[in-house]
Amino acid sequence: MPARRVAFINEKGGTCKTTLAVNVAAYLAEKKKKRVLLVDLDTQGHAGKSLGLDPRGLAKNVFHLLTDANVSLDDVTLPTATANLMLVPSWKEMAEFPTVAGPDPQRARRLATRLTPALDRYDFILFDAPPSLGLTTTNILVAAEEVVVPVATTYLALDGCSEMVDTVADVKANFQHETLRITLVVPTLYRKTQLADEVLAKLEEYFPKRTAAPLALSVTIDEAQSHGKTIWEYAPWSRGATMLQSIAEAVDRAGKTAPAK
Ligand SMILES: Nc1ncnc2c1ncn2[C@@H]1O[C@H](COP(=O)(O)OP(=O)(O)OP(=O)(O)O)[C@@H](O)[C@H]1O
Ligand SMILES: [Mg+2]
Repeated sequence: MPARRVAFINEKGGTCKTTLAVNVAAYLAEKKKKRVLLVDLDTQGHAGKSLGLDPRGLAKNVFHLLTDANVSLDDVTLPTATANLMLVPSWKEMAEFPTVAGPDPQRARRLATRLTPALDRYDFILFDAPPSLGLTTTNILVAAEEVVVPVATTYLALDGCSEMVDTVADVKANFQHETLRITLVVPTLYRKTQLADEVLAKLEEYFPKRTAAPLALSVTIDEAQSHGKTIWEYAPWSRGATMLQSIAEAVDRAGKTAPAK
């Protein structure tokens, strides 16, 4: 079986894309004993930082993989403190990717092409997307099959979600990528208010059976990230860990069910 490819995407900033990508990756690796590759594609390098790795001083990162044919996947793959979890880090150079890729007609397929050797080496490839649409996000959608959309349960949350539905439909059509689908919507930063509950109800209406239990606000989750640790390293018995475990299980299950129409 080739690796399942799961992207965590929302063009809105701060919706817990990185938190979910990192902790779901670590859960699959540590608790489910899967071989997992986490690919960061955000200029902020937060996936690396959340795993206690400093992406700043590295000679090569995902940008070099995407723009230099002499750089191999092995050259940019790093081990992490979690067994079975490897990371391809990202850093500021990624801002130059669209310019450097220029008019190359295959520019949207570069990530998929460069990750081909990983397909039979890993069980999962997870992508942490930047908070914007553009060439990088298109590359992620072309390389992925399953899309997880973390949505903050705030005003305008639904806007971001409908944008994602359109973007996924565009990539499906433009790149003949029939198997691409939104498998799960994850309400995040949830705090019990009337507005948040209205947003939750709408998400469940628009994405029936594809809306996960919400990730509530949790200081422990924030703290774990600031210490460069996964929740499983930092506070495995916390409420935050319980919530993230249930989301990780939902991500795993959702991708196994038949493609949603
Ligand atoms: N359940 C939570 N409760 C409280 N804070 C959280 C929770 N989950 C994540 N955070 C914090 O919220 C902030 C944003 O989370 P995160 O970096 O995962 O979002 P993002 O969508 O990746 O952001 P960006 O769009 O900038 O990439 C971080 O400081 C993170 O530690
Ligand atoms: Mg992020």
